[in-house]
Amino acid sequence: MQQENPENPQARIEQQIDRLRQIDELRDLGKGRQGICINFKDRVYKFLNLNRNNNLSIEELRRMNQNELHYLQLLTSSDYTCEVQSNECDDENLWITTAYMNLGTLDMDCLFNQQQQFLEMETIRIICVRLLNILNYFHNNRIFHLDVNPTNILFHEEFQFFHENRQNDLELPIEQGLQSLSQDLRAPQKKQLHLVDNKIHDYTNLQYILNQKFSNLQPNQRGYLIEYRFADEHVAQLVFWIRRWLKLQNRETFNPKCIQVKKGIRICFCDFGLSRSFENNDFNRPEFRDGPYKTPYEILGRIVYQNERIEAWKIARYQDLFCLGITMMNLLINNGYAEIEPFKEDEKDLEQFLQQTYGLHQLKNACHPDDYKELLTYYVILRWLEQNMNNDQTLRLIYRMLKFNFNFTSDIPLNLQEDQDIPLENIKTVQNFCRLLTEQYG
Ligand SMILES: Nc1ncnc2c1ncn2[C@@H]1O[C@H](COP(=O)(O)OP(=O)(O)OP(=O)(O)O)[C@@H](O)[C@H]1O
Ligand SMILES: [Mg+2]
Repeated sequence: MQQENPENPQARIEQQIDRLRQIDELRDLGKGRQGICINFKDRVYKFLNLNRNNNLSIEELRRMNQNELHYLQLLTSSDYTCEVQSNECDDENLWITTAYMNLGTLDMDCLFNQQQQFLEMETIRIICVRLLNILNYFHNNRIFHLDVNPTNILFHEEFQFFHENRQNDLELPIEQGLQSLSQDLRAPQKKQLHLVDNKIHDYTNLQYILNQKFSNLQPNQRGYLIEYRFADEHVAQLVFWIRRWLKLQNRETFNPKCIQVKKGIRICFCDFGLSRSFENNDFNRPEFRDGPYKTPYEILGRIVYQNERIEAWKIARYQDLFCLGITMMNLLINNGYAEIEPFKEDEKDLEQFLQQTYGLHQLKNACHPDDYKELLTYYVILRWLEQNMNNDQTLRLIYRMLKFNFNFTSDIPLNLQEDQDIPLENIKTVQNFCRLLTEQYG
């Protein structure tokens, strides 16, 4: 590519936008502090937001994009991000390109006080467990998102693989199974071709290949892959993605005849601009001021544990889980499952609660008044959960995510194995409804 105005980022961005516009229609997706997201075909370009009002220098913004790209690449073999399209990203970090997630975000504020289409409680439960598992996957790899909020969680309707477990299944070791599968999937050829795998393993390409054969599947209905024949280069792509998927399932064996394809919903994170990773021995206490919600740990940690050093990764984990807890509470409220009464300024219970939790008096005076108000909102939510959770699994989970941020001494082992299908119809209906409302009311 031509060396154009490296010192004039705005011009370079505009040039790229113009180039895209000449090929196909562009659609604005969102303008945030870090980036301006534009949908082009089945991709999203996140251009640096060079608007002067955001108080960040171009260098800081560039670093955020660089950081985001780094984490997207680190997590590329997971199903938990929108796939980065490395060959479409800018060498100078002025934009990054990912696959377009077609069902919107978890941000459903528009539903609040509408009495029509809601997510079912069961759907919310599955989403909650799924998101926890995703964060656990990140954390097990010492990666912390640090900007968990409803606008950074995306849904995507897509073709997915599924392994049907049948009794007396003859399973083969992965490589052997893939070899056998690739033989079976290949269309009969006049002359034997070598299996050339020279295409970039592009996720949108995988979706395109599967759509050729499975476009008639009903939501969550499945079809057997083995019943179709594919061109050699498509077989190579399929084998690549199935191998990746089997690894993600921690499988060591499988039966090629049992691979099914279904149309389902993926849920994943975007926006890794603030993400960080920590080593085990990283003891510096970081300030996570950029996060969306100020956590109880941020407010109280320095007051309660003045002389103690808490490992950075733990604080990062507190933050991610806390933000997920609040995100889930927003979802419950917007969908009409939780009605939280506004707190009273002279709330005495909080003082008592803090005293009981930390054994310290006068914590109120040690906090900034705004911070204390923040604590009060969280406390009112905690109290609502305590009164309403009974044996409800989802509410209990959310409670744990929030509560342990007040008790920051022990971690919660969160290893929820369950991974159910996300109810596709329910999400699609509600997302369409959200889209309509947003169009109507802005
Ligand atoms: N791959 C994608 N597919 C679909 N929509 C996307 C994708 N990436 C981003 N978006 C949309 O664009 C919005 C902004 O993206 P992102 O959060 O990455 O930018 P940001 O500048 O960091 O925003 P903010 O500062 O507001 O968090 C998202 O909330 C989402 O609605
Ligand atoms: Mg964002």
